[in-house]
Amino acid sequence: MPLLLGIEVATTAARSVVVADDGGVRGTAAADYPLAVPRPGWAEQDPEAWWRAAGESVRGALMRSGAAPQDIAAVGLTGQMHSLVLLDAAGRVLRPAILWNDQRTAEECAEITRRVGPARLLAITRNPALPGFTAPKILWVRRHEPAVYARTASVLLPKDYVRFRLTGARATEVSDASGTGLLDVPHRTWSEEVLRALEVPMAWLPGCAESPELTAVVACDGEAATGLRAGTPVAGGGGDQAAQAVGTGIVRSGPVSVTIGTSGVVFASLDGPAMDAQARTHTFCHAVPGRWHVMGVMLSAGGALRWLRDAIAPGADYGELTGEAGAAPPGAGHLVFLPYLSGERTPYPDPIARGAFVGLSLAHGRGHLVRAVMEGVAFGLRDSLAILHEMGLRPTEVRLSGGGSRSAVWRQIVADVLGTEVVTMQVAEGAAYGAALLAGVGAGVFPSVEAACEATLRPATRTEPVARNRAVYEDLYGVYRALYPALRPAFAQLAGAARCRAD
Ligand code: XUL
Repeated sequence: MPLLLGIEVATTAARSVVVADDGGVRGTAAADYPLAVPRPGWAEQDPEAWWRAAGESVRGALMRSGAAPQDIAAVGLTGQMHSLVLLDAAGRVLRPAILWNDQRTAEECAEITRRVGPARLLAITRNPALPGFTAPKILWVRRHEPAVYARTASVLLPKDYVRFRLTGARATEVSDASGTGLLDVPHRTWSEEVLRALEVPMAWLPGCAESPELTAVVACDGEAATGLRAGTPVAGGGGDQAAQAVGTGIVRSGPVSVTIGTSGVVFASLDGPAMDAQARTHTFCHAVPGRWHVMGVMLSAGGALRWLRDAIAPGADYGELTGEAGAAPPGAGHLVFLPYLSGERTPYPDPIARGAFVGLSLAHGRGHLVRAVMEGVAFGLRDSLAILHEMGLRPTEVRLSGGGSRSAVWRQIVADVLGTEVVTMQVAEGAAYGAALLAGVGAGVFPSVEAACEATLRPATRTEPVARNRAVYEDLYGVYRALYPALRPAFAQLAGAARCRAD
């Protein structure tokens, strides 16, 4: 039986999963790496750490699965989107990667909008220029680190850097390339017009395939680092959100997925490159050839819970914390949390927005704080779902995935806040699993992405909303909605004060 391997280069760890053609998971492994915050609002990582962790996780997954290297028919890659890797002509990394949740590029976004023109930018890339995207990061390096810019020969995304180390080939695919702000999303190809306007050389960009296409084979160095057999084909794969959607079966119109990873995402598959009239969501190419997707992205979802844990209960088990949250009442004793810890994208594309607890009293304990964070994340997800509704999408089912979906307490909160049943699928490995399925399509194990999902995915849990809780959350959501406009002037003042201190 052919086996498939998915590798995810996530924000906190590399994860690998070995999948059989009946969908069964044969082995998984993960290896962590740190994230650097050199200044508030910045986020960087060492690409070498991704590669080391990827190698370790592949070896671990192969060992646990009992698979021999020659049993792996193909490899699929996925990872955090948008993050910028710069290489010199010899393929050496020039500076730490600037990550998707880094907010330093507000000025460069304005420059991109000016250079390309707002209407052309939306028509071509289907998105406004946002600080998280890759293009403004390239312009930031040009302005602030001209020596690095002068040596740049190649721009890659995180999973594609791992592909480069694994195979020696520079390649990407349409779903991840959509998040650079340099892709002509309707035509699924790099945009000469945008590149010309920004004066960024086309030669710096890798070839851009469809996600299931085979892009390269494992090279001898890749074999030595991972234990995979040299010659094993490597498929395009997908940005983490598109691959996650494949791993949860969001490949046709109908079901939507809600993911609570470090970020929080609401994702729907589209027949064409439709977009929100106010461009509050992202419209990207899907990892399914001939399809697109729309998604709302919160920058801090599971990341907000991790932040709280590290701040008030370092090393505590998430199960213990979410257990305490489960013991606190719905509404967390009238406590509301705004999850904008690294600024926000959807529904407010605002790099200077910040987190807040509102309503604190002496009656609140740790469980209330944890619960308020989990509820604040669910409110943010509801904001994105509301935009999808405004676009005329009528979801037939909500599928919840990501680390947060493992918590029964969070599943119930999401069902209650969204006011709908939420379903989890039997496989928790989400994006890495989706990447393995894409590799299976590339290798001919499955005839199409849709067929791969049908052959492998089954629902695992179903959580119904509780009417009493829904009523509590309806009231609290109104309070939540009012808080961002009310606090915006305070965020602006705080950002101004922070700028003065940094100067
Ligand atoms: C998607 C996004 C995040 C990252 C990290 O637009 O920014 O989901 O891909 O997971």
